[in-house]
Amino acid sequence: MEMITNVTEYEAIAKEKLPKMVYDYYASGAEDQWTLKENRNAFSRILFRPRILVDVSKIDLTTTVLGFKISMPIMIAPTAMQKLAHPEGELATARAASAAGTIMTLSSCASSSVEEVASTGSDIRFFQLYVLKDRNVVAQLVRRAERAGFKAIALTVDTPILGHREADIKNRLTLPLNLVLKNFEGLDLGKLDKTSDSGLASYVAGQIDPSLNWKDIKWLQSITSLPILVKGVLTVEDTRIAIQAGAAGIIVSNHGARQLDYVPATIMALEEVVKAAQGKIPVFLDSGIRRGTDVFKALALGAAGVFIGRPVVFSLAADGEAGVRKVLQMLRDELELTMALSGCRSLKEITRDHVVTEWDRPK
Ligand code: FNR
Repeated sequence: MEMITNVTEYEAIAKEKLPKMVYDYYASGAEDQWTLKENRNAFSRILFRPRILVDVSKIDLTTTVLGFKISMPIMIAPTAMQKLAHPEGELATARAASAAGTIMTLSSCASSSVEEVASTGSDIRFFQLYVLKDRNVVAQLVRRAERAGFKAIALTVDTPILGHREADIKNRLTLPLNLVLKNFEGLDLGKLDKTSDSGLASYVAGQIDPSLNWKDIKWLQSITSLPILVKGVLTVEDTRIAIQAGAAGIIVSNHGARQLDYVPATIMALEEVVKAAQGKIPVFLDSGIRRGTDVFKALALGAAGVFIGRPVVFSLAADGEAGVRKVLQMLRDELELTMALSGCRSLKEITRDHVVTEWDRPK
C-alpha cells in the first residue's frame, strides 16, 4: 500500500479484493457508459495558465461550506452500502473524513445508521436523502439525521428511477443477507421482504418516489430546518428554480454517470450553472474527480468545493480507514501542489484566468 502514489491506483486493488458483483456495482455507469468516460476525458480539455514568481511558501486550503470551516474543498459524496467494501464501512469513512477535517455525506442507503455514524464522533456530516413513496418513513429519517447531528440534507434529484446499469442486471445484484440498509431497519416499509430475490437494495430503489417534484422541496423544508443541497443539477433552468425553491446550495452531479447516459461531464456543465447561480448560493461539483488538478479546475470554473465517490469505496475496499485517509491526503497534497505551481496561495486566489478551456479558444 505504501507504493500507492495516486487515487486511481486503488481501483485495481479493489477489483482484485472484491467479489465481481460488488466491484461491478461500484465501478459501472449507465448503459453505454459514455458519460462515465466523459467525466474523466473532459478534464483534459482544460489546461492551466500558471502564474509565476508568487511567494507560495504558505498555502491555505481551508474553506467554509454552509458556514462550516473545513480543511480543504474536497468532501465525500454519498455512496450506498459501504460495508460491501469493508466490514467497517461508513464508520471507517466517517473517521477518515473527520481526521482529514472535512465533510462526509452519508447515503440514505448506507449499511450503517445515522446514529452509528454519529457515534464515531466525526464532526461535520451531511445526510443524503432519497425521498421514498412513504413520506412518514422519510420524515422519520430526516428527523433522526437531524437529531444525530447531521448538518445538511443533500437531496438527490437525478434518481426518480434507478439508471440502467447493465453489469448489475447481468450479475443479478443482491445484498448479502448479513448486510442491512441500516437507516431503514425497524421502519415500517410496508411489505419489505429481506429474503426476496430482487434484493433489499433494489427493493429500496423501487421505493423511491418518482413523483418527487419542486413542490416537495417546500414539504421537506416544513419538516426540517436543515439546509438543503440539491444534488444532481446540470442546467441553467434548474439552477434558477432551485434558487427560487430556497436551496442552500447546488451539487452539479451526474451521479457518477450512473443515471442518464449521454449527459455532459459535470465539469462541462459547471460554468453555466455557476453563472445562473449568480453567487446567490454555492455550487459544488462531483463526478470524475480523481486528481488535485481536477479540483483546481473545478474551483477555477466557479465551484465552491467538490465531492468524491468511487475513490472512497475503492480505497475503503483496499485498505479500510487508512485507505480513505490516504485518498483524502493525496488529493489534498495534489491540490496544494497545483496551487503552488499556479501561483495561488489561497482558494480565493484561484480564478477563471488560471485555466483555459477548449471552448475558450477560437476554432
Ligand atoms: C453513488 N452515488 C450515490 N448518490 C446518492 O445520492 N445516493 C447514493 O446512495 C449513491 N450511491 C452510490 C453508490 C456508488 C457505488 C457510486 C459509485 C455512486 C453517487 C455519488 O454520490 C456521486 O454522485 C458519484 O459517485 C460521483 O462520481 P465519482 O466520484 O464516483 O466519479
